[in-house]
Amino acid sequence: MGQNPYRYGGPRGNDGRPAWWTGVVYQIYPRSFADSTGNGIGDLEGIRQKLPYLSEVLGVDAIWLSPFYPSPQKDFGYDVADYVNVASEYGTLEDFDRLVKDFHAAGIRVIVDYVPNHSSDQHPWFIESASSRDNDKRDWYVWADPKSDGSEPNNWLSVFGGRAWEWHEPTGQYYLHTFLKEQPDLNWRNPDVEAAMFDVLRFWMDRGVDGFRIDVAHYLVKDPEMRDNPLADPNAPSDHYKPMGEFGTLDHLYSKAHEDIHPLYRRLRAVTDEYEDRYTIGEAHIFDWEEWATYFGANLDEMHQPFNFALLNRASDPASVRAVVAAQERVLPDGAWPNYVIGNHDEPRLAKRYGVDSIRRLAVLLLTVRGTATMYYGDELGMLEGSSDLDLDPWGQNLEGVSRDGCRTPMQWTAEGGFSSSPKTWLPMGPDLENRNVEAQLADPGSVLNLYRRLLAVRRSSEALSVGDQRDLPSGNDDVLMYERVTADERVIVCVNFGRDSVAVAVSGDVLVSTDFRDGRADGSWTIEPHGAVVVRT
Ligand code: NOJ
Repeated sequence: MGQNPYRYGGPRGNDGRPAWWTGVVYQIYPRSFADSTGNGIGDLEGIRQKLPYLSEVLGVDAIWLSPFYPSPQKDFGYDVADYVNVASEYGTLEDFDRLVKDFHAAGIRVIVDYVPNHSSDQHPWFIESASSRDNDKRDWYVWADPKSDGSEPNNWLSVFGGRAWEWHEPTGQYYLHTFLKEQPDLNWRNPDVEAAMFDVLRFWMDRGVDGFRIDVAHYLVKDPEMRDNPLADPNAPSDHYKPMGEFGTLDHLYSKAHEDIHPLYRRLRAVTDEYEDRYTIGEAHIFDWEEWATYFGANLDEMHQPFNFALLNRASDPASVRAVVAAQERVLPDGAWPNYVIGNHDEPRLAKRYGVDSIRRLAVLLLTVRGTATMYYGDELGMLEGSSDLDLDPWGQNLEGVSRDGCRTPMQWTAEGGFSSSPKTWLPMGPDLENRNVEAQLADPGSVLNLYRRLLAVRRSSEALSVGDQRDLPSGNDDVLMYERVTADERVIVCVNFGRDSVAVAVSGDVLVSTDFRDGRADGSWTIEPHGAVVVRT
């Protein structure tokens, strides 16, 4: 693989632009990627052994590892019992160091999950905090007295169902948990919490970590008066995500995103800026674009990027995609860089959300729109939604129809699975293992995996696709999305067919990628297969 000046982990060749701008980040759910010990659960050493796949077969620029810290696994690692260690089921700190060293040597950066809103109730901080009202760490979590009738301090709800308050009989107060009761919220208004959690960032950066994905980043700071949340506005814009179940009945105005969150992110950024060239991307499910953009910071001094989740559910037709692209570009502060994501460990697999036919065109979209792209393990094989029969996801246990088990099934390496030597994996392997596995798809020149490989290589070698401006082009067909990516020296046109019929588009140039792998030149017209796409250099 040649030297690529635009590569995230490569030399800085982007006219001084930060390297992560052009990168493709590959999300790994450690439990599900590769099991090196044969216990049916993925681990860090398993991930390290797959470096050749990530580096040479795919060619991604960074990996983001979902939590691998010691945890009771009530929420599969998002309930952290020790922020500065590795769960024994995933390996050791030495395994982690080896992984970082090898990935860095291959030019791939390592981003880890940072879960600051809540810890596990098994974290020593919470155990101390709960031990008595006058314990030094009492104020490290959010405790409140009951109302005079003994009920919860306010009407706040847990994302995962039920009230956000848990009664603690031994000390006669409630504690706040935005998620499970086993995930008590840390009190970020306490400077000692902030100092301890900032040290967590330093701990991992000292070990070479290149960046952090910040879990529920907008939840950290709540209303100091802890007022009741108002009812949800039934007339909220239709593009605003509406949570399901009881949680959707309230507007969570006071239980998250208090304005004090911005100074906090400025302080957090100052910590990551103590180290050279680090990157932060925050999970902020905020669908009001203006509010979303505030997380870059007024002077680009907060997180490097808040995740743009709009395409998770709005990539169904050209008009919706155009609206998302335009909205992000409109609110993006000067000097900031856009980003896109189409799958992750909280969302049903692409085929379930958009239909199995959509997989190829979504790959083209994700890897050619202007912005940092985050892809989810297995999407490069078109992995399908797996079974949720085991009902392991706590959210799914509380609310019908939301189980996340189906998008977390083990990575499919071979027709036998290839994930673990154990026949019993923590979640069963997903459907269509025979065709949707790395080995089979590498051998098939027309596979989804080979499409991803081609797209990644083309993106890497194209200045326009890496850093070019993006402009919408009229396609003359409601089913076809067309845009150009341009720099002074290069122009690339992307045409994506959302329809069920093949369609001829007016375009000329060298075909860089076609979802049906036809190469050659487009001379004035190119016929795109149903649900397909073509990328042309003019
Ligand atoms: C968001 C994470 O992506 C999700 O998996 C987790 O359950 C919640 N935050 C709670 O940490």
